[in-house]
Amino acid sequence: MQQEQKTGQQAWKTFLPELFNWAGQVKLSVHPDCPESHHHLLMLREKKDSEGAYEIDAPLLPDEQRRQLMQQMTELGYQKIPEPVTLRLGDSFYTLVSQSALDLSDVRKARQAGLDGARILKNLGVKSLCLHAGEQVPSSGILEGLGLGLYQLTGFRNQSGNNRVSQQWPERIMLAGNCHGDPEEIRTSILASCLSRLLADAPSDWLNPEQFAKIAEDMSAEQGLSCRIRKRAELQDMGMGAFISVGNGSVCEPHLIEIQIKGKNPDKTMVLVGKGLTFDAGGVSLKPSLGMDEMKYDMCGGAAVLGAAYYLSRHQPPVNVVCLIGAVENLIGSTSTRPGDIVRSMSGKTIEVLNTDAEGRLVLADLLHYAQSQWKPEAVVDVATLTGAVLYALGSIGSAFVSNDRHLASYLRNTAESAGEPLWELPLWPELAREVRSELADLKNIAGSAVKAGTLVGGTFLREFAGSVPWAHIDIAGTAWNCKGTGYPASGSSAFILKTLAKLCLNYESAL
Ligand code: BES
Ligand code: ZN
Ligand code: ZN
Repeated sequence: MQQEQKTGQQAWKTFLPELFNWAGQVKLSVHPDCPESHHHLLMLREKKDSEGAYEIDAPLLPDEQRRQLMQQMTELGYQKIPEPVTLRLGDSFYTLVSQSALDLSDVRKARQAGLDGARILKNLGVKSLCLHAGEQVPSSGILEGLGLGLYQLTGFRNQSGNNRVSQQWPERIMLAGNCHGDPEEIRTSILASCLSRLLADAPSDWLNPEQFAKIAEDMSAEQGLSCRIRKRAELQDMGMGAFISVGNGSVCEPHLIEIQIKGKNPDKTMVLVGKGLTFDAGGVSLKPSLGMDEMKYDMCGGAAVLGAAYYLSRHQPPVNVVCLIGAVENLIGSTSTRPGDIVRSMSGKTIEVLNTDAEGRLVLADLLHYAQSQWKPEAVVDVATLTGAVLYALGSIGSAFVSNDRHLASYLRNTAESAGEPLWELPLWPELAREVRSELADLKNIAGSAVKAGTLVGGTFLREFAGSVPWAHIDIAGTAWNCKGTGYPASGSSAFILKTLAKLCLNYESAL
């Protein structure tokens, strides 16, 4: 892999899934009626108050087709909603997937239907595809789910083993019925999540901090965004001793990625901050071996922020957006930070590093301070795979967030709800502030072992660096990969929170 990185400019692009090229080209159209199509994707739902009975939820499907499809299913003996099935009427095919009966938002139901559809459709050689909205379930969400489901990372396989399937994917997708918003935004969302998921799923020998910065630079240049990369010496000059200390055990230097997106109103700025640990071995406070490979995903906050930058490059936000990603790897070696070492953060506060595995907060401490002091923003939102503890608090269906500002907290909650990305707010109990005070330094990076609320402690530590700016911190450790929420891929990266971040910026002006 190392060799490959050196060959040719932008060699990383050959690793982008076929989905990326396809999504960039596929023709999209919205229809108020049922268009002619080689293939249709429809949803089945249970009938109310009649056990087992089901119906097709596709208001635009003509009655005759509906009758014939139901008849075929009766003949096939399906008394309950079947697994996804494909039927034929004349020259057209109809794939029927089940609509979730859970009490979930319509956007999430839509995405799940798209994901289920993708499993069937990706191997069928479909030429044109019509996605049918349900009575409540928007076709735009189904398209988004389809995009999530068609993602397949093949670049790390032997070329001859590559399964290049895009020629079988539809050239055209028609959205029939209720579509939320502009389908071009869904196209962007698929492209952005595809980029973000590649970075997340890629192994850390491929996506090291240098490669992360290179990809951010290439993407920014191509999309007309300005991007600045700072490496160790410059970060040192800026006083980012906390951030730098995390990378002390690696030959690959820490890279601070800063991308600017110009908004329509240049007087206001919003900052997105992402934790970009391309690998987190824990450092000298080494993690156990079991499952350590998963720590290649410790850059998912950064990947979501880069994905959001890509999204915003295609749909200009009302305010300026600055994206900051701290790309670094936490390894063990003779130059690593040791437990007990004291580092000086950019804010001037010193931090006793009692556990080198609580490194994300060291990175974010400097980035948050830089964000508020340099940019004087309206708001700062950081995203990080910060604590294992969040998995015990909320599991893998939604993410936790904390905030120092009621207005930002409710804006974030509402935005996430409309993006179909479940978020739940946790409190920042004032009593916890004393748990991160150190005897020797100003702060320590972990609390005593009696304090079990790891996610709150992480948030409390970060709050010290947010100053008086409205700030929210989202802990995506439970959802960034192997997300169990409806409407997310069952395994691998999820690009969770990417859409919420983009929408937070796009709707900012009207939210005030
Ligand atoms: N990257 C981890 C958090 C993590 C753990 C993410 C499991 C996803 C799954 C983070 O850097 C970490 O190691 N946090 C420690 C903090 C502790 C030492 C206070 C943790 O959660 O155990
Ligand atoms: Zn760690
Ligand atoms: Zn980490």
